[in-house]
Amino acid sequence: MRDQANLPMPISNVMWVEKYRPNKLSDLVNQKDVVGSLKQLFKNTSELPHLLFSGSAGVGKTTAALCITKEILGDVWKDYTLELNASDERGINMVRERVKKFSRYAGLDGRIPFKIIILDEADEMTSDAQTALRRIVEDTAKYCRFIFIANNISKIIAPIQSRCAVFKFTTISEQEVISYLKEICKKENVKFDEKGLETINSYAEGDLRHSINMLQATASLGTVNESNVKKTAGLTKTKDAGQVLKLALAGKITEARNKMIELIKVYGMSESDFLKYMNRESYKIKNVKLSEILEIIAKYDYRVIVGANPEIQLSALLAELGKIGK
Ligand SMILES: Nc1ncnc2c1ncn2[C@@H]1O[C@H](COP(=O)(O)OP(=O)(O)OP(=O)(O)O)[C@@H](O)[C@H]1O
Ligand SMILES: [Mg+2]
Repeated sequence: MRDQANLPMPISNVMWVEKYRPNKLSDLVNQKDVVGSLKQLFKNTSELPHLLFSGSAGVGKTTAALCITKEILGDVWKDYTLELNASDERGINMVRERVKKFSRYAGLDGRIPFKIIILDEADEMTSDAQTALRRIVEDTAKYCRFIFIANNISKIIAPIQSRCAVFKFTTISEQEVISYLKEICKKENVKFDEKGLETINSYAEGDLRHSINMLQATASLGTVNESNVKKTAGLTKTKDAGQVLKLALAGKITEARNKMIELIKVYGMSESDFLKYMNRESYKIKNVKLSEILEIIAKYDYRVIVGANPEIQLSALLAELGKIGK
């Protein structure tokens, strides 16, 4: 277990998963079949169907969707792409409003064939919401192409599936994960041994995002070898959230914030998980102000869910905890 005293790492705010996210389809690791058939479809862009990508976590679905939009729309891709998270609390009405607005704004001016809407985590939508979505897809078909992304394709209703070309992304093989991690180690000047990389792969099970995050977390401890990888993997995240809580209550806001950023940016803990873990840990702290702590956590949990900027909110949370700790 790593504690404050032996934290050797400079906190890196650059996440390697983002730094090394491929920009071109052809740079995707191990999705040869998918990439091959997608390229086939691109031969006649104007007839491109809607797309549905399925597959497990961290294998390149979102990355592929972004590569496609960049390849089709070129430099102006940002202006003509809408990325939505379908599992968003605000549901289908939010999706409908945003799609409507987006399809109205900035007409096609001949520079691009259509606008692209990426709907991530589409399998988290209820089937009612998906049915409503189907109408939206039809109404906007003239100007927009959808890319649906789902972990579990069986949760996507048939009428949507039948309107899409479906691509199944496979998990990344051990060999490919390892050689990809080696490339990153070389670029980042990180020392590693073969066994260390194998250990990462055995934890991550073909999830390249998880592998890269583990690599970055381990590299912050030193050489990427088996023992350091195990240390990283064994870090109990709940406990780390508890540590942030303790630091904040002790008024060490900057330290608490650094630790929190490390958890979120490097270890990939989601903001809401962070709050959940903090909530759990607060029962373990001998502090008479438990009810106040719980209320504060609940307040910021709500703010984050309704869409306020998480980094600002969580920093304010720490500051508020700091006040009651006094
Ligand atoms: N096939 C791949 N080739 C290269 N890098 C990849 C690949 N798959 C994943 N990665 C790396 O992992 C990160 C996450 O990938 P991505 O967001 O595309 O995963 P995903 O399949 O959409 O996962 P999820 O289902 O969790 O959303 C990328 O930023 C990239 O660094
Ligand atoms: Mg994704």
